[in-house]
Amino acid sequence: MRKDSPVRWDEKRGAWDAFDYQSVKNVLENKDLFSSNRSRRREGEQASPIELSLISIDPPKHTQMRSLVNKAFTPRVMKDWGPRIERIANQLLDEMQDPSEIDLVKQYSYPLPVMVIAEILGVPIKDQAKFKDWSDWVVAGPTDNSPEAIKRLEENQQRTYYELYVYFKETIAMKRKQPGEDIISVLIDAEMQGTMLSEDEIIGFCILLLVAGNETTTNLISNAYYCFTEFPEIYEEILKDPGGALPLTIEEVLRYRSPVQSMSRVAKEDTVLNGAQIKAGNIVVAWMGSANRDEQQFENAHQFNIRRKPNPHLAFGKGIHFCLGAPLARLEAEIAMAEWIKRYPRFERSSGFSLEPIESTFVYGLKELKL
Ligand code: HEM
Repeated sequence: MRKDSPVRWDEKRGAWDAFDYQSVKNVLENKDLFSSNRSRRREGEQASPIELSLISIDPPKHTQMRSLVNKAFTPRVMKDWGPRIERIANQLLDEMQDPSEIDLVKQYSYPLPVMVIAEILGVPIKDQAKFKDWSDWVVAGPTDNSPEAIKRLEENQQRTYYELYVYFKETIAMKRKQPGEDIISVLIDAEMQGTMLSEDEIIGFCILLLVAGNETTTNLISNAYYCFTEFPEIYEEILKDPGGALPLTIEEVLRYRSPVQSMSRVAKEDTVLNGAQIKAGNIVVAWMGSANRDEQQFENAHQFNIRRKPNPHLAFGKGIHFCLGAPLARLEAEIAMAEWIKRYPRFERSSGFSLEPIESTFVYGLKELKL
């Protein structure tokens, strides 16, 4: 596909797919030609909180909002997060009562990012189970292309957005009375070009963090362990010098098993992309998962090679929407693996369970990984 039809029109979905590295990069980078406002709302319909959030808006509004929320993700802030993530990782490792078989996803890679986000947002850990259900629905795709499956998905997503909306509205009301050291309190207080962020914009950002920061980081950690069990000789190399090898490993996992496979844009005007005639208003899906395996860009693209240098993967996107949480995701993954290695340097994949990917065309990870 990448070679024969790198940018192709899919009649069924009514969308373009871009598969090759250069086209994917062009779509993500060219904010003047490709908009992030993917809303298909009809007149009078209300925007969902995600449609109002950073990931769905274009400049100049995007520039203003991003500079505001950026403050929560600076290198200095990340330095403060290190010990907190280490504490959370160790708490989860302490809770693993029976290390003879561990489901890495359920016991480690899923709860860790949820607990970190809960602290960032300043919401109680006891709401974890609800967070999982919500973020699963937001990133889910239809189980098949039947109208019933699409309808079921839409209904569940609507319910999810409603529940998330109510949840954060109540949380904001609470924090207005009793501000804390968390990002919601910062946003309530923040001024943007002389005006406060509207309540709906704050809710949209909270939902975005919850959704964008959980499942993705879970999948990065799970996909890393999937690679370790698949390439034991590389894992041995990592064990000799975890401090030096883990950051490189994380970049290669991001490339080789990209947690986010695609992002979409809407063409603002007629344009040509690698020979394809795209019309204004057309949806273009940029497949980063495919671009990250493009043989024209990466030598031996299908080889898992932690020594790859440079490694200009597109797993965190590119351009103005480049993942805001990338430093946090990298930090979480590195600490999660380093702390694990201290306790369980030796492990292998259990037999008797199947390696099943989660049901989504957009995020990529495993439902469970028994070690
Ligand atoms: C944006 C991937 C973790 C927050 C993005 C985008 C990608 C991405 C591909 C670009 C979207 C676009 O171009 O339309 C990932 C991956 C992660 C991860 C692979 C983990 C391995 C996180 C975390 C957070 C986060 C931990 C926050 C806690 C965001 C936000 C945006 C974003 C707020 C929107 C930025 C903007 O539109 O300016 N992420 N993400 N992400 N990510 Fe992440």
